[in-house]
Amino acid sequence: MRSFFIFLFFLPFAISAQDVAGEEAFGKFSYDQFEKPEACKSCHVDFYYQWQQAMMSQAYTHEWDEIEYFKLAVPHAEKDEKVAGVKAGCNGCHAPISFLAGDTPPPPPGANSRANESVSCDVCHTIVGFKGDIPYNFNYISKPGRTKYGPKPGLDSPHHRTEYNEFITTAEFCGTCHNEKSPYGAWVKATQIEWKEGPYAKQGVVCQDCHMPKAEGRNAVMVEGTDMVAQHLFHGAHDKGKLRGVIEMRIHPNERELEPGETVVFSLQLHNAKAGHKVPSGSAEERVLWVHVEAITPDGTVYHLPVDKKGFEGEEYTIASDVLAYQDMAIPLGLTDFKGIRREEVPIGDRIFRKPYLDPQGRMTIMQWNTASFGPDYRIGPRETKIETYTWIIPDEIPPGRVKIKASLYYRKLPKPVQEFLNVPEEESKEVLINTAETYIEILE
Ligand code: HEC
Ligand code: HEC
Ligand code: HEC
Ligand code: HEC
Ligand code: HEC
Repeated sequence: MRSFFIFLFFLPFAISAQDVAGEEAFGKFSYDQFEKPEACKSCHVDFYYQWQQAMMSQAYTHEWDEIEYFKLAVPHAEKDEKVAGVKAGCNGCHAPISFLAGDTPPPPPGANSRANESVSCDVCHTIVGFKGDIPYNFNYISKPGRTKYGPKPGLDSPHHRTEYNEFITTAEFCGTCHNEKSPYGAWVKATQIEWKEGPYAKQGVVCQDCHMPKAEGRNAVMVEGTDMVAQHLFHGAHDKGKLRGVIEMRIHPNERELEPGETVVFSLQLHNAKAGHKVPSGSAEERVLWVHVEAITPDGTVYHLPVDKKGFEGEEYTIASDVLAYQDMAIPLGLTDFKGIRREEVPIGDRIFRKPYLDPQGRMTIMQWNTASFGPDYRIGPRETKIETYTWIIPDEIPPGRVKIKASLYYRKLPKPVQEFLNVPEEESKEVLINTAETYIEILE
């Protein structure tokens, strides 16, 4: 009898050879097999409105997604056999039911088709496991139908069957869409892999703990009493509150009192205190995280302090400059003689924490599917501390008194030149102040 129960308990994990996942699941289902999010709304009111405010509900409709898919990815896939698979593949994560229904490319968001449901309730709650060794490239196994899989056993619903499935409580579940390998075999998204290599995985802190925190409440409106339930918040890079303070900073001089002509060295410590993976993570090809340091004299004169070079290979990618990049956009856009656009619009000499994505010709790209290799990974890992130094020869003209040194850490989701070039809404390249730190030195007579 006991073994019978154990068998039942583990049934949802039993992955059979017929299960399809990833590319092979393309077109194996129909739209009708998936319920609309509105069908869940009447009972799961809170989760519905939370989900609606999260990027999950906009993964297909968000303007930048529409531009990147229709202006860059689809035309590129039609011109270059090597990346042909992304035309359907993008939707495996951004519009999963369109992918599973074999609808490629789906109608644009303006057509208001079912693709617009993006990553919906029924997408996640009909996933039972993944196929392979590593979760990536939408290799989740989908079992749409009357049974909804959730994190708790023994719940009853008038609308559907409910079944406990441990998989939904794991980081691997998220990894099926948050790890991505390009057609060239490069890990262009590796949030779950970064997490797994970091301290949080070892301590059993999963994605859900930080992105779906539990609070006292009710799963569904008709439930009596309360329980700890997973809030469907999914705060990420699109949320200023999630970003604010994610990196802690402190700056100090190696000497407090100096005379003009003397040299001072400032050390700046940057500590990733809040994120379970590197910062930036996810769409790292687009993220620009940079620190700007300046000295402000008593009379209000501002001196910009460029970061000291460390001398590692590829460091030039991590120091702001006015070089041109993203030349591979010429392929989908059909441009000839395209020299590229400015790599970033950041004060020259500032340190950038990034991992450059390189196209097959070795040029920096924001088209993650066209990534063949990487430059140095100079992002800040979970609980990692990086130290930057700034050497400054005190200029002769500085009057005696207290000089303030200020470090400001900024973040942009998309490089400003790319936002402007592709006519993406300005919001995508708005700079967000993540943190500041201050110190001072005294200039003697
Ligand atoms: C008519 C009301 C109703 C509708 C409609 C409904 N549900 Fe439910 N659902 C419930 C109730 C009641 C429970 C059990 C809650 C409890 O006891 O805490 C439940 C439980 C669940 C669970 C299990 C939660 C867990 O902790 O394991 C999941 C998952 C779920 N629903 C998903 C969905 C999805 C997805 C939809 C839309 C496709 C949906 N539900 C539509 C009433 C509904
Ligand atoms: C990106 C995937 C994803 C989407 C989209 C999603 N959920 Fe969930 N949901 C989860 C995960 C993961 C959990 C379990 C979290 C945990 O226990 O750590 C969960 C938990 C739940 C629960 C049980 C909560 C609890 O703690 O008992 C219900 C009910 C539920 N979801 C309903 C919905 C409804 C309704 C929608 C759409 C409005 C929705 N979900 C959208 C992933 C998702
Ligand atoms: C079916 C695929 C899929 C699954 C499963 C999934 N996600 Fe996502 N998630 C996406 C996509 C696609 C986006 C990007 C939306 C956009 O910006 O277009 C996203 C966005 C997010 C964001 C917002 C990022 C930002 O930049 O603001 C967070 C946070 C997030 N997911 C966390 C999770 C967590 C935690 C889980 C597991 C509980 C999970 N996701 C499971 C597909 C998925
Ligand atoms: C210890 C808490 C914590 C854990 C664990 C955690 N995250 Fe995050 N996550 C954060 C914070 C804080 C941010 C905001 C900073 C940022 O954007 O990098 C964030 C940002 C993100 C973003 C946006 C990244 C970007 O740069 O665009 C995604 C996507 C995401 N998380 C998904 C996940 C997934 C998937 C997992 C599990 C594999 C996970 N997170 C685990 C705290 C956490
Ligand atoms: C394996 C799943 C997966 C695939 C395949 C995928 N994406 Fe994404 N995409 C995501 C996730 C997850 C995020 C959110 C990451 C983050 O916020 O850092 C995202 C974010 C984005 C963003 C938003 C970036 C931002 O600034 O918020 C765009 C645009 C995008 N993807 C376009 C595409 C296109 C075009 C393709 C096909 C060439 C594609 N994606 C393929 C999972 C995927």
